[in-house]
Amino acid sequence: MVSRVIPVNPFDLVIFGATGDLSRRKLLPALFRRMLDGQMPIEARIIGVARSKMSGKDFQGFVREALAEFEPEAAKAPEVLEAFLAALDYLAVDVKGDAGWAALGKKLRPDVVRAFYLSVGPSLFGEIATRLSRHGIATPDSRIVVEKPLGHDRASAEALNAQLGKCFAERQVYRIDHYLGKETVQNLMALRFANALFEPLWNSHYIDHVQITVAESIGVEGRGAYYDHSGALRDMVQNHIMQLLCLTAMEPPAKFNADFVRDEKLKVIRALEPLRPEDSVRGQYRAGGGGASYLEHVGNPESHTESFVALKVAVDNWRWAGVPFYLRTGKRLRARMSEIVVVFKRPPHAIFPEMATQAPNELVIRLQPDEGITLHMTIKEPGPGGMRLTEVPLDMSFAEALGEGHRAPDAYERLLMDVIRGDQTLFMRGDELEEAWGWVDPLEAAWEESNEKPKPYDAGGSGPEDALALLHRDGRKWREIES
Ligand code: BG6
Repeated sequence: MVSRVIPVNPFDLVIFGATGDLSRRKLLPALFRRMLDGQMPIEARIIGVARSKMSGKDFQGFVREALAEFEPEAAKAPEVLEAFLAALDYLAVDVKGDAGWAALGKKLRPDVVRAFYLSVGPSLFGEIATRLSRHGIATPDSRIVVEKPLGHDRASAEALNAQLGKCFAERQVYRIDHYLGKETVQNLMALRFANALFEPLWNSHYIDHVQITVAESIGVEGRGAYYDHSGALRDMVQNHIMQLLCLTAMEPPAKFNADFVRDEKLKVIRALEPLRPEDSVRGQYRAGGGGASYLEHVGNPESHTESFVALKVAVDNWRWAGVPFYLRTGKRLRARMSEIVVVFKRPPHAIFPEMATQAPNELVIRLQPDEGITLHMTIKEPGPGGMRLTEVPLDMSFAEALGEGHRAPDAYERLLMDVIRGDQTLFMRGDELEEAWGWVDPLEAAWEESNEKPKPYDAGGSGPEDALALLHRDGRKWREIES
């Protein structure tokens, strides 16, 4: 499969927090990959900004090491690596004071795309935006990129939007949800809207229910301080799972462009019924499998924060009336596995005796790992012994189907190039963010008020028993979590 790469226009990309973890692990390797694939023009420049004094040469050394650690292709392409390093520059800027801003303004070229990536704590978003504007560095065409946590409830998200909105128009603000940069998540739209097959069935006449699972095998690792204030609902559901839900449930947009797609997603969020505490299950992992417990990981023996959540959700509109969406996500589960499962209704009339008990058709969209789709179908069991039925998977792994040379780019590769191209389709709009928070806030409040502890669950399993019961009580069951 030959990739079709269209180079982007020349740009100056300023990364605030350039020496931080996200920059080292994700942003710089992603930019390198785009250069390797010929998408980054020779005139592109990346300007690292951080607090510490460092020369341009030192920064190049820092990036060389980061690429050696996180981008194996760098060692195989020394010429591209040197060209990439030559595109780098560095400046120490005091984001809370006045030092460095004038120099930054002077460095930027007037005639190329200008983008500012704020890879810093969210408390600095407003300050940086204000200073970019006050120092005349942000032009009417500049782009500003921010990433979660984008608030922790509706009020703080509104405040953040208002702060950014004082200095940047909405068309200049790129709010990243890295799930939207994943190839397979975009593929959900291709699958639904570029095929005639599924859409006629994609509604309450044919679909019994939908399951969305984002399971992780890792724990909270070194992020305990952040995570313990957040929990699975805020960390994963309000953003990533919400995006998966929207792309699964939304109406076909008239065009694939930023506002058309985001309008349709927003309609889904607005159609969500308020979350009821009795339709939610919270869990916290115990020690096990050689790992510490959640409480030990976050160093807070009294913590009531959930590392697992399961929800039953209703999209209260014409298409989805009566079709529950079951969502779950958690850490320290059996495997790293994300999938969307669309479970169809049984055929309306049973002509074979076994049909009453036959498994329904299921469309499994695997997002990670081993991206692909599987359609579970019923066929006749081979042999002369009568009309017995059996289930077979119609299985397609995208990697196999697309063949040698196929590579799924990292989410940041796509998203960074979209920023430069000025395409906001895969970024969250301000109203979408606020509505998504507005939907989770009442459940957070109800949990807090009840002061109940999350249910403990074993590391390496599939979450607390109550999560299984959430479906059992409706006569349904989760698909197994497996790699
Ligand atoms: C992040 C969450 O946004 O997404 C993490 O803060 C989580 O807690 C991560 O581990 C999952 O992303 P991915 O791409 O590994 O599925």
